[in-house]
Amino acid sequence: MLGFIFSSLFNLIFVNANASTYMPFQGTELSESIDSLYGFLIITSLISFVLLIGGMIWFAFKYKRRTDNDSTPNIHGNTALEFLWSFIPFVIFMIVFVWGIIIHKDMRNMPKDAFEIQVTGYQWGWKFDYKSGVQTNGEFAVPVGVPVKLIMKSDEVLHSFFIPAFRIKQDVVPGIYTSLWFNARTPGDYQVFCTEYCGTSHSNMLATLKVMAPNDFENWLIENSKVKDLPLAERGRLIIEKGTCVSCHNISNERKIGPGFAGLWGSNREFADGSSAVADENYIRESILYPAKKIVKGYANQMNAQNLSESELQAVIEYFKAQASSNESNKDTSMNLREQ
Ligand code: CUA
Repeated sequence: MLGFIFSSLFNLIFVNANASTYMPFQGTELSESIDSLYGFLIITSLISFVLLIGGMIWFAFKYKRRTDNDSTPNIHGNTALEFLWSFIPFVIFMIVFVWGIIIHKDMRNMPKDAFEIQVTGYQWGWKFDYKSGVQTNGEFAVPVGVPVKLIMKSDEVLHSFFIPAFRIKQDVVPGIYTSLWFNARTPGDYQVFCTEYCGTSHSNMLATLKVMAPNDFENWLIENSKVKDLPLAERGRLIIEKGTCVSCHNISNERKIGPGFAGLWGSNREFADGSSAVADENYIRESILYPAKKIVKGYANQMNAQNLSESELQAVIEYFKAQASSNESNKDTSMNLREQ
């Protein structure tokens, strides 16, 4: 209640006019109250700064020694002044303290009826599991105006899940579950970041949150539950394009952190140690699960093992195969399997 009064008052005076210019978009009600508190901190800091530094500069000039026998009067304290410079900051700190606790309680009290989504952080990406069985990678959707709870875990190292537009952030820790909640009020796409340095591709560890009208969200769930029924190569394409592969590899043959994917299937790969191999099923499988085993010539050993299931591996392999068979120069390298 107190927090509401503070934030309403503050919004009225300072924030509303400028919110969109100095802060990111406010995607939730909570982000507004956080911005109000933040605005209060900025304004009070600014006033203190002007009073302190301004006063210091002013006094330095006003009481500058002007003649050789200029001497400072011997002052032994001023009770009223000392009381004020202690009491005013005390009041300001108490306001920030109480206001902060109220917002923190709103942030941490998970609504009981929230729509739950399981989130898994891994090097380097985010996976999302819905109760209906839908699983997505690098993208997730929620209905607008519904409290959503994220239950989060990590596969290996510390990550941190951050949605700037909602002003919420939480470490994602191996071995335990952590959680966040939000109630998005505006449909649209929102950027998710990892904000805990977690290795080479930390800065590419992104995801998109889609906030949708309830109908669109239902359709999105249905669409994504159909992914299991898609042709293998089509599923493979989704895994590559919506997952983390594309943060280091281009679909074209253009190099990124790693080699481009075009023309991969059946090509002769030359490795840093001078050996070579044909890109077939086992090569692709090994390069995903044990990327350090064969490093393509001219590239650094930077890729982390990707946590794909057997069926995801198959789908990705089929994708590369399908890419090649749309190419005339294709030869059937599946035969290599039997020759080895
Ligand atoms: Cu995950 Cu940084």
